[in-house]
Amino acid sequence: MNYKNIFEEELKRIENSNTFKYETPLESAQSGEVKVNKKNVVMLASNNYLGMSNNKFVKKGAINGIKKYGYGLASVRFLCGTQTFHLELEKLIANFIGTEDAILFSSCFAANNAFFASITNEKMGYENYRDVIYTDQLNHASIIDGQRLCKQETTDKKIYRHNDVDHLNQLLEDDKNKDYRFRIIATDGVFSMEGEIVHLDKIINLSKKFNAILFVDDCHGLGVCGKTGRGTSEHFNLLGKIDVISGTLGKAIGGALGGFIGGKKELITFLRQKARPYIFSNSIPPAVVGGSIAALNLLKKDKSIVKTLQKNTNYFRKKIKELGFTIIDGIHPVVPIMLGEAEIAQKMSQELLKQKVYVKGLWFPVVPKGEARLRVQISAAHSKKNLDNALKAFKLVGKKLKLI
Ligand SMILES: Cc1ncc(COP(=O)(O)O)c(C=O)c1O
Repeated sequence: MNYKNIFEEELKRIENSNTFKYETPLESAQSGEVKVNKKNVVMLASNNYLGMSNNKFVKKGAINGIKKYGYGLASVRFLCGTQTFHLELEKLIANFIGTEDAILFSSCFAANNAFFASITNEKMGYENYRDVIYTDQLNHASIIDGQRLCKQETTDKKIYRHNDVDHLNQLLEDDKNKDYRFRIIATDGVFSMEGEIVHLDKIINLSKKFNAILFVDDCHGLGVCGKTGRGTSEHFNLLGKIDVISGTLGKAIGGALGGFIGGKKELITFLRQKARPYIFSNSIPPAVVGGSIAALNLLKKDKSIVKTLQKNTNYFRKKIKELGFTIIDGIHPVVPIMLGEAEIAQKMSQELLKQKVYVKGLWFPVVPKGEARLRVQISAAHSKKNLDNALKAFKLVGKKLKLI
């Protein structure tokens, strides 16, 4: 077997199917503006929603973390990898998102991988049992992969149509008389390709009606949704009412890395015993812990940051529509600009970079065929000038490509 050739051929196939992911190296820190090819360009492709990736308080928090607790732990949590610092961050997260307790993971991908298998693969005193997971068709890859780790012998998986509460209701109704141990409803809080917020107010009613555990991945809601950025639950006035919330420290909250699960004390303690990515993988390092604590404290103290994000988002959404572009309406800083064909999205992204605007295109199979788009992501780090420059570039390129 010549494995080099196999990879070479496969890479060609990926390129030919327009799905090769090219990386553009940034020559500066992540911010509202970044340096690419020695030029300053407006960054519209980052999850740095609150502009905390290069914030001086957050960086100071990270540096102080290193000074006090060192660089690395060289251990998993239960051996000798738990510092008081980790416990402080877990407490802060739980308090912020409105859950009793929280557990850190090295990423939200790891957290989502951990959750489903940890609770469905354990007998917990049951000799014979079955669990069932109801999962949104467009849930994040980490939820899908997490559910793949659940044993088929004991777990049923039912996929409901995207954000379709009636379909979910019907599936739950069909199973009403089955003797399941756990019924779990799993959904993203915000679907990041669309900037679409889940119908949490309706889904929570179903979870109560059918006695199901409601799991919400709030990676794109945390720091963004709700008056004070506490997430999708705050947006719906449901703070403290969601059974399980997973989230990331790799987007709004500093943007480095790290993830967590929040929930009832017993569940979190159980995960510390059974979650494999927690038990068999290193603790997150003090720099990240310190930066995340600083980011959360800053968000709690300075209410203007979320307001700036929301103001910037409203401004961009209004102006881009006035230019004649079609967007998916909403309130989230993810603003999908719908272009139809992949070639147009690709061309537009390239032309915009020439005009000093950094935004990436998405097309099939990442989004449905014929729905290629540019996914703009607004940040509190954007000045009005950044946004106006970006809008000017959109106008210029849009006219050049005869899109507006
Ligand atoms: C909805 C959702 N869940 C989970 C993740 C994974 O988060 P992390 O980068 O912390 O692994 C992401 C990141 O892309 C996401 O968008």
